[in-house]
Amino acid sequence: MINEKCIMIIFGGTGDLAHRKLVPAIYNMHLSGQLPESFALLGTGRKQKSHKQYRHELAVSAKKYSSQSFKEKQWETLAGNIYYHDIDLQDNTGYQRLKETLKALSPGTNSEGNILYYLALAPQLFSPVSTNLKRNKLNASPYGWRRLLIEKPFGYNLASARELNTVITEAFSEENIYRIDHYLGKEMLQNILVLRFVNCIFEPLWNNNYIDNIQITASETDGIGTRGRYYDLSGAMRDMVQSHLFQMLALTAIEPPAQSDPHSVHMEKLNLLKTIQLWPDSPIEEKIVFGQYNNFRAEQGVSPDSKTETFSALKLTIDNDRWRGVPVYLRTGKNLGEKIAKIVIQFKVPSNIDSHILPGSSLADRSDLPNLLTLKVQPREGVVFQFNIKKPATMGEIVPVEMDFCQPCAFLINTPEAYERLLTDAIMGDKTRFTGWNEIECAWSIVDNIYQEYNKAGAYLHQYEPGSNGPQAAIDMLSRDNRRWWE
Ligand code: BG6
Repeated sequence: MINEKCIMIIFGGTGDLAHRKLVPAIYNMHLSGQLPESFALLGTGRKQKSHKQYRHELAVSAKKYSSQSFKEKQWETLAGNIYYHDIDLQDNTGYQRLKETLKALSPGTNSEGNILYYLALAPQLFSPVSTNLKRNKLNASPYGWRRLLIEKPFGYNLASARELNTVITEAFSEENIYRIDHYLGKEMLQNILVLRFVNCIFEPLWNNNYIDNIQITASETDGIGTRGRYYDLSGAMRDMVQSHLFQMLALTAIEPPAQSDPHSVHMEKLNLLKTIQLWPDSPIEEKIVFGQYNNFRAEQGVSPDSKTETFSALKLTIDNDRWRGVPVYLRTGKNLGEKIAKIVIQFKVPSNIDSHILPGSSLADRSDLPNLLTLKVQPREGVVFQFNIKKPATMGEIVPVEMDFCQPCAFLINTPEAYERLLTDAIMGDKTRFTGWNEIECAWSIVDNIYQEYNKAGAYLHQYEPGSNGPQAAIDMLSRDNRRWWE
């Protein structure tokens, strides 16, 4: 149990994120004794409702979305510290009432303790909320810390992200701003640096001499659910690539940080992001594939002539000595056939392979034989290594086989979910797994450039069937390079 007093306020406490991710995470933290000794949760929303009604709604979500089984008794203990407060976040006057509510909360967590503000909101509300918190002197206190947790999307493009950052940093000091990319809380992302730097067999090969290409996939089976309005403005690039996919790539490709402190890791990620570009000197359709699933335009909140991409595949380059010449393929989308997030490192096939095979042996297609290192981020965390052997009882048929490390099977524990990890970190004041502002800025400038090239070329939005692997054009993008997505 954390020895801190803390009130957590979720602005957007009735929204999708609160119900699907935050409250289930808080419930899990409660079960595993990870919440502060003295903890209260205050959810805000526009509608009026009683604490009782709010608690009931959250119980339904905790039951549905928590990875742990629902235990009535434990939930009741937590629910006793859950409150609801209706507020119009744009209206400055409501914040005085919020102040009163905070004061009235249980004595162990009165407003002189620590407060974690979580902005689980549409991005256009980030500025009014942080400004109003400041106006009402809720942004800092001599009696405890005030931290601001911000969900992505942090802005809509580089310009709006900069504006937003200015407003937020006027209200909160940088050390108290926690910009969330929940992928950084996922166990396998935390593992990438360990895998690379604490095993001497990988790092010497981690460069363009030995690696043929890097593939990062984050595919989802769900569509956009009730988030049509947000998603139609955002699209796959802003929703997933700018944040989660770039963070996965950065950790996969960074130079070894000088130290393991948050600053060194952030600096290395930033250095890496600065070198990312679209693959140079090739036509647009060979490096950007945007798709939209059939019927997306009929979704609630989506414009009937929407050109928003619900799928994006990219071919990028990392312009530094380690990676120059190694294509990086990224792919993400909604309504696809499989929910999976993974990073595949494809090694080169030795050029003199033919002279080493046994007499009389037969080679499968060379393209079947690269060593592959797959970091499985979800759903089942693990690491798989593909290598080649002679198939037993044959004259010498060479076939690829796999060593498969399954993390939950090996450790027989439910790894904490990303939000549990990140909320604990924020309460403890550990910023290692949060994104630095400079990284966000840099990621936006890459995304802005990609959109610019795409729009300039008047490029094509491919349709795809829900439940498929996305547009054929994304598959063609690799086959043109004599490669394939490793499914
Ligand atoms: C969020 C995106 O950041 O990540 C969602 O806004 C997406 O659109 C989600 O569904 C995916 O997260 P996860 O953890 O389910 O892969």
